[in-house]
Amino acid sequence: MIVKEKNQNYIMKQDLINSFEIDYIFENKPINRFKSKPTIEITKSKLNDLQIKIKNLSNCELKNNAKQIVFSDGSFKNSIMIVGEGPGQKEDELGKPFVGDAGQLLNKMLAAINLKRENVYITNVVNYRPPNNRKPEPAEIIRYSEFLREHISIIDPKILILMGSTAMEALFGSKIKISKERGAWKEIIINNKTYLTIITFHPAYLLRQADQKKYSWADLKKIRKKIDELNIKI
Ligand code: URA
Repeated sequence: MIVKEKNQNYIMKQDLINSFEIDYIFENKPINRFKSKPTIEITKSKLNDLQIKIKNLSNCELKNNAKQIVFSDGSFKNSIMIVGEGPGQKEDELGKPFVGDAGQLLNKMLAAINLKRENVYITNVVNYRPPNNRKPEPAEIIRYSEFLREHISIIDPKILILMGSTAMEALFGSKIKISKERGAWKEIIINNKTYLTIITFHPAYLLRQADQKKYSWADLKKIRKKIDELNIKI
């Protein structure tokens, strides 16, 4: 259908055109022809679907022993996503990631590079507390990595920060060592999209190995520099 606008331009009727499942948006403006990022509502609904999928897992020792799912915390609007290992006791009680001692240190690490925890998006490889805080088994990491990949696709971060060897293993496999891989920018392709990724030490590890904090600080500074280079507004 064609309608005549006041400015004498003929444009296709927006509502009708935009109602089709196509990758363009027709507007009466010279810019913004491509579909922009999904709306907040769509992202929220996809996150909700993913959470339901994880809650419906069967035959999962982690789920069977945990109090509740620990899905995520923070904001998905600012393009920075952090992935830890899995919930501990406090996270299991409160249903939020990184709220115990490691979480306190994470908050300080973020503050050191001028980031507020509530402005980044935080999740874990496994979404249920492993019994006695054991490390997730390789089979569990593989099983949950499918959800993690979907999670990353939904959040679509500009910077992905993998904290600790479990997060590294979930996306890059178990053949590499965190001591060698940390601190370098890498690219990972998920669902045909490339994500800029950095591996760094887990705060719980830093609580045990304070002498490693200097490496963590070097990584944090690289992250800040990249945020500035990419002009990410947080
Ligand atoms: N360690 C993690 O990896 N994640 C949490 O949520 C808490 C501690």
